[in-house]
Amino acid sequence: MRTKITELFGIEHPIMQGGMHYVGLAELAAAVSNAGGIGTITGLTQKTAGDLANEIARCKDMTDKPFAVNLTFLPSLNPPDYPAYVKAIIEGGVKVVETAGRNPQSVMPHLKDAGIKVIHKCTSVRHALKAQAIGCDAVSVDGFECGGHPGEDDIPNMILLPRAAAELEIPFLASGGMADARSLVASIAMGAEGMNMGTRFMATQEAPIHQNVKQAILDATELDTRLVMRPLRNTERVLNNPAVERLLEKEKNLGKDIKFEDIIEEVAGVYPKVMQDGATDAGAWSCGMVVGLIDDIPTCQELIDRIMKEANQLIQHRLAGLLNG
Ligand SMILES: Cc1cc2nc3c(=O)[nH]c(=O)nc-3n(C[C@H](O)[C@H](O)[C@H](O)COP(=O)(O)O)c2cc1C
Repeated sequence: MRTKITELFGIEHPIMQGGMHYVGLAELAAAVSNAGGIGTITGLTQKTAGDLANEIARCKDMTDKPFAVNLTFLPSLNPPDYPAYVKAIIEGGVKVVETAGRNPQSVMPHLKDAGIKVIHKCTSVRHALKAQAIGCDAVSVDGFECGGHPGEDDIPNMILLPRAAAELEIPFLASGGMADARSLVASIAMGAEGMNMGTRFMATQEAPIHQNVKQAILDATELDTRLVMRPLRNTERVLNNPAVERLLEKEKNLGKDIKFEDIIEEVAGVYPKVMQDGATDAGAWSCGMVVGLIDDIPTCQELIDRIMKEANQLIQHRLAGLLNG
């Protein structure tokens, strides 16, 4: 399938794997890219710019295809050394950067001078327009369904994607709640040029995370995610567990007086414990509502092949058949 995104990134299928903390390591990024999509190394999971340079080199050993690096700009008391991370990305010869969080204006000149394509992930049309205005090549539009940070507007993709299509000139990927061929075809019908998936790619053979996490995804339904940290205006969609229930109880009891320190036990340092050690109840970790649509652990190649085969069938038979019938 050819779209503006396959052309922009030089890939075969319009499917991206979004950056995921402690999930987006070289193994997963390379597997997605080798399967014809575009995989993403999560920059800040690497503790230093030197570590990121090594991870990029590892990924290049595993694939000749284009892959991306995610740079997430979070509010932080001790911000990471972003210029050093950008240098590692440029010197590593990376062709695509997925930015997220705050707008990436400060790093744009360096990335553009190096010929890197920038796709900014955003949760509203106004942020997408801002990304377009500062020179991003594309955006990923993350609806309310998404795993991770859906923003504070709560607009689901059935509304957000057509709104993005109405306003944007640059191409965009649909993100949040995407799982299969139906997601891809529906996204394209709503004006997107492909889709970005997070949670679905966690339940793959190559995702370098503990089996307990994959099993938790298989066991969960679409009713099992919760929104946390809304009172801090840092809303995150996570899989429910006892730690998340504790966190929500604190939010209820402390109301608008709640501070980050009050919930630090449930949110700080959680990812290595969950993803590497398999302690799925260690705290709050991102997970999308799409978890209700995931019931197997294929390889990335099997997953992407299946999506593309079924998307073709959907378009050529079901949709064309409706017209001919
Ligand atoms: C476990 C997990 C960790 C994530 N970490 C990040 C991150 O560090 N930076 C980022 O930009 N997005 C992050 N995301 C968001 C994904 O890149 C993607 O936008 C989102 O998962 C799409 O929604 P879906 O899960 O419904 O497919 C994360 C998502 C998950 C599930």
